[in-house]
Amino acid sequence: MHRTLLVRRYFLCAAIFTLLLLVSPSFAQQQPWMNSQLSPDARADLVLKEMTLDEKIDLLHGNGLAGWTKPYFNASLGNGGAGFVLGVPRLGIPMIQMSDAAYGVRASALNGRYSTALPSNLAAAASWDTQAACEYGALIGRELRAQGYNMTLGGGTNLTREPRNGRTFEYQGEDPILAGTLVGNRMKCEQAQHVLGDIKHYAVNDQESGRNEVNSIISKRALRESDLFAFQIGIVIANPSAVMCSYNAVNGDFACENKYLLTDVLKKEWNFPGFVVSDWGGTHSTVKASAAGLDNEQPLDDFFGQKLKDAVESGKVPRSELDEHVRRILRSEFASGIVDFPTKRSVVDVEGGFETARRIAEQSTVLLKNSNGMLPLDGTKLHSIAIIGPHADTSMISGGGSAQVDPPGQPAPKWLDHVWFPTSPLKALCAKVPSATVSFDSGANPGSAAELAKKSDVAIVFAVQWTSEGMDLPNLSLADNQDALIEQVAAANPHTIVVLETGTAVTMPWLDKVSAVVEAWYAGSKGADAVANILFGDVNPSAKLPMTFPRSEADLPHPQLVIPPPEAQGRAAVMKSGEAKPTFAVNYDEGLKVGYKWYDAEKLPVLFPFGFGLSYTAYAYSGLKVNPGKETTVTFTVKNTGSRAGDEIAQVYAALPANAGEPPKRLVGWNKLHLNPGESREVTIKVPVEYLSIYGENPDGWKLVPGSYTFMAGPSSRDLPLGSTVDLQ
Ligand code: BGC
Repeated sequence: MHRTLLVRRYFLCAAIFTLLLLVSPSFAQQQPWMNSQLSPDARADLVLKEMTLDEKIDLLHGNGLAGWTKPYFNASLGNGGAGFVLGVPRLGIPMIQMSDAAYGVRASALNGRYSTALPSNLAAAASWDTQAACEYGALIGRELRAQGYNMTLGGGTNLTREPRNGRTFEYQGEDPILAGTLVGNRMKCEQAQHVLGDIKHYAVNDQESGRNEVNSIISKRALRESDLFAFQIGIVIANPSAVMCSYNAVNGDFACENKYLLTDVLKKEWNFPGFVVSDWGGTHSTVKASAAGLDNEQPLDDFFGQKLKDAVESGKVPRSELDEHVRRILRSEFASGIVDFPTKRSVVDVEGGFETARRIAEQSTVLLKNSNGMLPLDGTKLHSIAIIGPHADTSMISGGGSAQVDPPGQPAPKWLDHVWFPTSPLKALCAKVPSATVSFDSGANPGSAAELAKKSDVAIVFAVQWTSEGMDLPNLSLADNQDALIEQVAAANPHTIVVLETGTAVTMPWLDKVSAVVEAWYAGSKGADAVANILFGDVNPSAKLPMTFPRSEADLPHPQLVIPPPEAQGRAAVMKSGEAKPTFAVNYDEGLKVGYKWYDAEKLPVLFPFGFGLSYTAYAYSGLKVNPGKETTVTFTVKNTGSRAGDEIAQVYAALPANAGEPPKRLVGWNKLHLNPGESREVTIKVPVEYLSIYGENPDGWKLVPGSYTFMAGPSSRDLPLGSTVDLQ
């Protein structure tokens, strides 16, 4: 239908609907599908019966995004987010207003709004804390609704197979059980605020280089036990409204038209009742994508607009298939509560957001090194502190791309701008030691920074690694001469502390020369206060790495990042023959060996292992007992042997029987314990059989390999003082 006519039709319907509401205020409520006692499925079926073909098509595609190819004709109906889907006003079905919201709601500046920046998703994963994940999601859910959005595009779940991936900060690390559990808890609580929840990018979108063109090649077993397992766990916990299929192809078929991923696994095997939304521009076909299980194209209607209507009318897409797409969207709208609880604009709770952001940042900051009790700093003994590093006087760096949260007081950043959040390490540290001299040097000239360090009691270097969607890092070194800066400062002052603001792992050639290292990640709106609280011991660090820090890129499964040749890049290359085809491949031949599983299997030393993190107190582990059964339980005691209260993340790993053909061990559970000095507590961790199973091919399916299982417990993946072997059948 002609666009102008479409707009007219939409406004006419809206006007008639409004008129009806005025005549009879209870009109919408009187519709049978407005009965909230009915199940979401029943309500969806009732609405579906009333819908015309055009209304159905309207639900299956977006209506543009500012800056995306051409402005769409009805762009003014949007809420300023990444996309929107028309509702059916005459039936009381609202529009879906979507916003990116990885670590906070995106695009505030352009829309004249404000959002809290939480610590990055990777940072929050370092808390290993399901309650923190829940608070994270709930805050974002509240801020989305306050701004008029009813769908989040957050929920990054991809595993860190490739630590140079520029989006590593948007994900939850390298272990499927940790990542799936945390994203599930985050999305469950976000969705409880009555927004449509989404987890993404399904699947194996594990690098940004050539993301639209790449064919991710991976064995079925490795796929199911690693990347897909994280999604599976997340989906079971959160029951999200939507799953976003990714840009890349997986084993030959683009993810958004990949029947194995979307239908066989997601919808049939996992019984996912929600809808599949394409990543932005990730749809490449009409008939194939629809048959494979894609339900909603974003951000436009290239394939799921007129072409889909034609395909339905000519019988190429069965009406039942079309209805299935529509039903899934309607069902999610009812299940999430966006119909029963329409958004109400309100002012974001700025102070409450600060409080949550700071608390989660404190729980996310990992103490990596602390020689001779350098930390915590004792304010009463310090006369002078040198604060060194780019912008450390005013702000801390944040992660870029569609995850970007806009900083208050600054204009809207452009794509790939480095965005500094106004949380000032200098100010936060000054507040801790009002009587000491606190001086700042940007580090641009390492010589002058070293001079300042020399005449100070301690030197704190804030080192920065910026990453973003749309790029990968060439390597894991700190850029812009920062390694040399740290070397020089450390040579000038033996009491040098490095605070890292990074989106992924970094190599640390200077590690032996500094006294302490703190990983603060992208720490969000209140990052500086959190770091100051950790450095001065107001908070005892408890976070543990959700990913391995390797010694060098040479130790990675793929020492060289695989990048596409120039002629194989871009939409034109992919769509060349009219039928979309990936143009180059990354072969994930490390298979099951993701992250620590790789370094363990290859017997490689690492810089800092998965699960590692220090505290200002010490813990002792004892008395492991394993009770095998349908749900195996692992019991042991943790004692705080130091003089400060603290939270310990106690971890349990399992080594499967040798004939299972698995990497040496896998994380199967953990517990975060608060322990006062001298206190000990027995902890019991339940290990579901799924966490001990493998995915067999021929015949396909999960199975427990009968044999000897060794359960190990301790403070990190490479420090497991307790072990016990049992037989499981
Ligand atoms: C990203 C998605 C994002 C979408 C909308 C894409 O480029 O890959 O994660 O949700 O844009 O902004």
